[in-house]
Amino acid sequence: MSDRLRKILITGSSGFLGAILVESFFKEPWADQDHTQILGLYNKYNDLPTKWPNQQPKVDVSFVTGRVDIRDVKALTDIVTDFSPDIVIHCAALRDLEYCESYPAKAGSVNVVGTENMVSLCNKLGCKLVYISTDMVYDGTATLYNETSGLHPVNEYGKSKAAGEELVRNGLHTDSWTIIRISRLYGVHPLGREPDLARTILERTGNNQEVVLPTDEYRNVTYAPWAAKAIIALSKHNAFGVFHVCGDLPISKYDFGIMIAKQFGSSTERIKPVSSEHYQMSNASHGPAVTRPKRVMLNNTKLRTIIGSKSMMPTIADTLKMFKMDLAEYKVKRKNLKCKM
Ligand SMILES: NC(=O)c1ccc[n+]([C@@H]2O[C@H](COP(=O)([O-])OP(=O)(O)OC[C@H]3O[C@@H](n4cnc5c(N)ncnc54)[C@H](OP(=O)(O)O)[C@@H]3O)[C@@H](O)[C@H]2O)c1
Repeated sequence: MSDRLRKILITGSSGFLGAILVESFFKEPWADQDHTQILGLYNKYNDLPTKWPNQQPKVDVSFVTGRVDIRDVKALTDIVTDFSPDIVIHCAALRDLEYCESYPAKAGSVNVVGTENMVSLCNKLGCKLVYISTDMVYDGTATLYNETSGLHPVNEYGKSKAAGEELVRNGLHTDSWTIIRISRLYGVHPLGREPDLARTILERTGNNQEVVLPTDEYRNVTYAPWAAKAIIALSKHNAFGVFHVCGDLPISKYDFGIMIAKQFGSSTERIKPVSSEHYQMSNASHGPAVTRPKRVMLNNTKLRTIIGSKSMMPTIADTLKMFKMDLAEYKVKRKNLKCKM
């Protein structure tokens, strides 16, 4: 593997994290003097732009896209071999918990078989694989999770992602894989696709609609552009092994909702605290009940050690300020993007 990585393949580049990663590379390329080539793979989404907003003039990045189903070995082999990446950041996945619970075989075919295909291609091409995983590989019974903690997923999504991790660990040399477990992300989707939890809360409180949020389900809520920055930093540092990339402290959906409303000057009156059981019942129309770990607290010390900077860890309050600014720029971005929104 070359020391100066420049050809980067991002799977799931039409998704929330994948699109933010692409955008991050336009703001901060792999290396100042290098030309960075990015191939963004997507599955069904048709409107990936070839020019991204906020691109810094000095940044020399080219972006091409390719449509492929990662379960299709032949099509995937053709497109990946042709590009011959130095590094693959594998974001593509089915991540809707209710959908994965209803259709475990589909979750397995994308999250497990798709990952198996990527592993075998990375082996063949001798390139590094960064596998994006989740805190849902844990059951939430431990006080604090380190990267070495045992995996015990409690739902189909978590099981499929844990199985993907195992394929990565067992299928590649130790100096060619990184597994990055992230927690619940929030932020602005660069392509304007479905809003995340934070935007849903904002839209509903803005329209004076009631928002019901659980008080007893804690996760290390993480600002997505910050997570993308950390993923890129780990990749640049050639940091191999497993890492937790997440905000410092777990917070419940309810407390997060209150923080968002306050940050945007919205009323908190319509945000109603409920238990996670009640929340599940009120969302029953969206799909089957899915067991969720109650409290997953990830230790991110290993990330801090590699990155070597405290400033990489902004607080939730800090990232909410960034979110507010990004949301304000959103309308401008929409105009500049060459895609339907
Ligand atoms: N978002 C979170 O809060 C969160 C938290 C923890 C972990 N993660 C992990 O982070 C990664 C990215 O998540 P995300 O939030 O960006 O998900 P997302 O917004 O749902 O995007 C999923 C991406 O995967 C692609 N995809 C789905 N099925 C595919 C297939 N058969 N072949 C090729 N591509 C396929 C989709 O392509 P099309 O849109 O073109 O169909 C899309 O680009 C996932 O691995 C997820 O497990 C996310």
